[in-house]
Amino acid sequence: PRLFALVPAAGIGERAGAAGPKQYVDIGGLPMLAHTLAALAAVPRIAQTLVVLSPADDRFEAALPGCTAWVARVGGASRAESVLGGLAELRRRGATDDDWVLVHDAARCLLRPEWVDALIDACEHDDVGGLLAQPVADTLKAGDADSRVSATVDRRDKWAAQTPQMFRLGRVERALQAMGAAATDEASAVEALGLRPRLVRASMENFKVTWPEDFTLANRLLAARR
Ligand code: CTP
Ligand code: MG
Repeated sequence: PRLFALVPAAGIGERAGAAGPKQYVDIGGLPMLAHTLAALAAVPRIAQTLVVLSPADDRFEAALPGCTAWVARVGGASRAESVLGGLAELRRRGATDDDWVLVHDAARCLLRPEWVDALIDACEHDDVGGLLAQPVADTLKAGDADSRVSATVDRRDKWAAQTPQMFRLGRVERALQAMGAAATDEASAVEALGLRPRLVRASMENFKVTWPEDFTLANRLLAARR
């Protein structure tokens, strides 16, 4: 089986509050999406990467000139729909049920190739597949509508899910179709089939740029790596 990467980049970045979609915000001189794709391009076992854009995207060509990834304007109203559009595009380009797909958020631009390698090593001989994740360090609170604590949640077995998430194309497609637009990651859909994806520890640096202050953090981390 071959290994493909699929990068959903069709969101609007509402919570980040930038002037445009966050995947095009400049981080250290390059759009966030360029950093994300560079990390995946540095993983030789990935045969090809497909970027999923919104049909309305008019920024990609100017922002990422000379990009060698495949591009498809098949994004949908939710992340899950964008991923399903990308999986269908991979099939059109020759991918089959047994091929592996690494789904990775465009917004996780601090990805390191070695974390991807660790995920592939852990999953390529696994029946189910898995995801990068980080054990939760903070004490977890459930809160009510008035922002008052309703419960303290035992954190000891809790992990924060990240991406990439690595599953076989046929299975992850069936799983997402069954769960619909509500799935916020691939693993939750695969879990709903009664399967138990493998958790592979990465780093807190693999966070998802979500809020305005996250751009500052991403800039500092990238500057420190240079
Ligand atoms: N994404 C997508 N299609 C959507 C929604 C999200 O491809 N309809 C992508 C985003 O571009 C992002 C990844 O999924 O790379 C993770 O989603 P998120 O961080 O929620 O990004 P946005 O949806 O853009 O941000 P927000 O939820 O704040 O609007
Ligand atoms: Mg979103």
